[in-house]
Amino acid sequence: MSDPAPAKRLFIKTYGCQMNVYDSERMADVLSPLGYAITDTPEGADLVVLNTCHIREKATEKVYSELGKLKEMRDERLADGGSRMTIAVAGCVAQAEGEEIMRRQPAVDLVVGPQAYHQLPELIARTHRARGERLSADFAPEEKFDALAPAGRRATGVTAFLTVQEGCDKFCTFCVVPYTRGGEWSRSPETIEAEARELAAQGVREVTLLGQNVNAYAGEGGLAALVRRLARIPGLDRIRYTTSHPCDMDDSLIAAHAEVEALMPYLHLPVQSGSDRILKAMNRSHTAQSYIRLIEKIRTARPDIALSGDFIVGFPGERDSDFEATLSLVREVGYAAAFSFKYSRRPGTPASAMPGQVDEAVKTERLARLNGVLDEQARSFNTSQIGRVLPVLFERPGRNPGQLIGRSPYLQAVHATAPDHLIGQIVSLRIESAARMSLAGELISEDLVSA
Ligand code: 5AD
Ligand code: SF4
Repeated sequence: MSDPAPAKRLFIKTYGCQMNVYDSERMADVLSPLGYAITDTPEGADLVVLNTCHIREKATEKVYSELGKLKEMRDERLADGGSRMTIAVAGCVAQAEGEEIMRRQPAVDLVVGPQAYHQLPELIARTHRARGERLSADFAPEEKFDALAPAGRRATGVTAFLTVQEGCDKFCTFCVVPYTRGGEWSRSPETIEAEARELAAQGVREVTLLGQNVNAYAGEGGLAALVRRLARIPGLDRIRYTTSHPCDMDDSLIAAHAEVEALMPYLHLPVQSGSDRILKAMNRSHTAQSYIRLIEKIRTARPDIALSGDFIVGFPGERDSDFEATLSLVREVGYAAAFSFKYSRRPGTPASAMPGQVDEAVKTERLARLNGVLDEQARSFNTSQIGRVLPVLFERPGRNPGQLIGRSPYLQAVHATAPDHLIGQIVSLRIESAARMSLAGELISEDLVSA
């Protein structure tokens, strides 16, 4: 375990009225979960916020002269080998002058108007990132990926995970990932392909491409091009990827679902909520309707695709009517699988400081109702496979002797009586019965299918 991050020092200089005094306290509140503690001088501060006032003549000039002093202080400290001070301008001058401030005084790192204080953690994280720093991180992505370099990667079965992307730039207001994992970062297609070839050479037949925002993969041609490239590797018959953001689900990736045989018909595409009001407060940058339209497009490309999602109940401010909107989106989409969570306050995230935190009992009740609908959908999706013949990749022995377990193209676990030598093979199974979590199948012949 590493030591907790040392406290960072925050100096806020407040000009003007009581409103600004109140706002300064709020800024200190939203920043404290990120490890910022108030200090009463700018010397040694990691972050200085000038909370400005516009009301009196020359107030703006006073701000510029203060900024000049801060710049000197910052430069001196840097010259002495000290840490870099981040300088922010908030309040009414920020509102009135906007980016002009940064033009006049380039030492200013960020400008934030009174309507946007809840975004301070995000803005500060972005500023640090622009300088290649992180607010809190247990490793730099490059180091981690070096540790995952293809040479020596040992496969332990017929399926493998393959990290292609890390981090997230989306800043959903409930989520710590953008702060802890940093910005979106993608490995090169060449290193990924080399690792995939190595895995295939060791008998891996299915890879799941991993990334916090995997469909924001930024190698040339995006995730679609990567999938097409990996699909050409001999022996690699199945490709999956997770987790995706609706806003990065572009047409080329949708087309790949229609055209690339190795790309499995299963997509985890979290929506989080069906209420536009809550989606907005979550900073999700999609609406319920745009998500549903996207699903329609994906289903047009690949009609049998199995969808899964993540849902949060009890986000701050969620009313009964918002929760009902989530239920109705779930009914409209129809999920094959899902993960649902009670909202939990994560320190440092904007939502943790939002008003309208929902009672635990209400969250529990909503989660139970949502799970009721989702379980029913999973069960009916599984039941709909009964009588079908599905290609199943056998992965390992099952619970009972003589049984093997594998996965259908739709990621369902399927067990069947079958000889051990079929582990690692894709075989045709007729589906005989279904439970919520798995299917039972019967081997119809030992003939292998290709995908
Ligand atoms: N509270 C509840 N669920 C959360 N998730 C992320 N952060 C929170 C939180 N603070 C869920 C989201 C995300 C999944 C990986 O975890 O649904 O998609
Ligand atoms: Fe990023 Fe996903 Fe977290 Fe949103 S929920 S900030 S998309 S990792």
